[in-house]
Amino acid sequence: MLTKLKDLEKDAKKSIEEAGSLEDLKETRVRLLGKKGDLTTLLRSLGTAPPEERPVIGKQANILREELEQAIKLKEQALKDAQRAGRWEEERIDVTLPGRPVELGQKHPLTMILDEIKEIFIGLGFQVAHGPDIESDYYNFEALNIPSEHPARDMQDSFYITDQYLLRTHTSPVQIRTMERLAPGLPVRIIAPGKVFRRDDDATHSPMFHQVEGLAVDKDISFADLKGTLLLFVREMFGPEQKIRLRPSFFPFTEPSAEVDISCIMCNGEGCRVCSDTGWLEILGAGMVHPRVLESSGYDPGEVTGFAFGMGVERIAMLKYGIGDLRLFFSNDLRFLKQFG
Ligand code: DAH
Repeated sequence: MLTKLKDLEKDAKKSIEEAGSLEDLKETRVRLLGKKGDLTTLLRSLGTAPPEERPVIGKQANILREELEQAIKLKEQALKDAQRAGRWEEERIDVTLPGRPVELGQKHPLTMILDEIKEIFIGLGFQVAHGPDIESDYYNFEALNIPSEHPARDMQDSFYITDQYLLRTHTSPVQIRTMERLAPGLPVRIIAPGKVFRRDDDATHSPMFHQVEGLAVDKDISFADLKGTLLLFVREMFGPEQKIRLRPSFFPFTEPSAEVDISCIMCNGEGCRVCSDTGWLEILGAGMVHPRVLESSGYDPGEVTGFAFGMGVERIAMLKYGIGDLRLFFSNDLRFLKQFG
């Protein structure tokens, strides 16, 4: 029986050594030390050995059991270490690989133009004001003296949300909101940049575009102040040689009203395709704030006067950068956007 024990020991140690995985090792353990395992079976037959040998065999068997337990434990640790090492090898980071370039973003061309516009007017003492994109009929039309038969009030031209609320069609309602907030304080000097919405969509019209509104209210503000302010703005924006021209026009919320042209920046006023051979480009609408607008916003038209203007940001960007299609601003094509870095 002692020889059997010796054979078992040899065989057991070999099996443990050869176990290729934790799974293998577990099976080996059951086979050797389990309830029906080889060692247990051997011990069960102890009764068949001569009585004087029994204690020796028993002792040896117990020593073997402990040795095998120990060997299995060591093997288990070795297998676990190997597994971990293998996983590390798979996940290892190759620090010699070139890095992925981190591309820096840049300002959208419209943001660049907006920033420039703001900077110019802030330098003239204007503050930046904001109003909501969703406006009430009152602020968008009524308080601006826009009569109910005006085409802008038509469902065909504006995005209505309910009977009373719509996406603002211009930034002019911020004039009203600002005057209501400040009245009767003087002076009022704000620009209001923001999104506006109209039911239009082609190469020069987008359903959403940007405007910058301007408003100045004080004692003795004159049309000359308006013209001087706009001339200064245009020269800062397009260059010191720019001329402006004011043509009489009509807006319900200004009286008198004007449309403002700049000398064509493509041909310097010579006449070209861009200015349709007129030498002039229209860039904004302006005028003296209508007395009714002042009055409904809390100012006394007998005491104060004001000027207002509104310009399209996309139009200015298109002229300044020579862009022919407005939709390029909104299609997020990086080939286009990257040119403005
Ligand atoms: N709100 C006008 C529009 O969207 C632009 C405009 C014209 C604004 C004259 C003004 C102004 O403040 O005085 O077409």
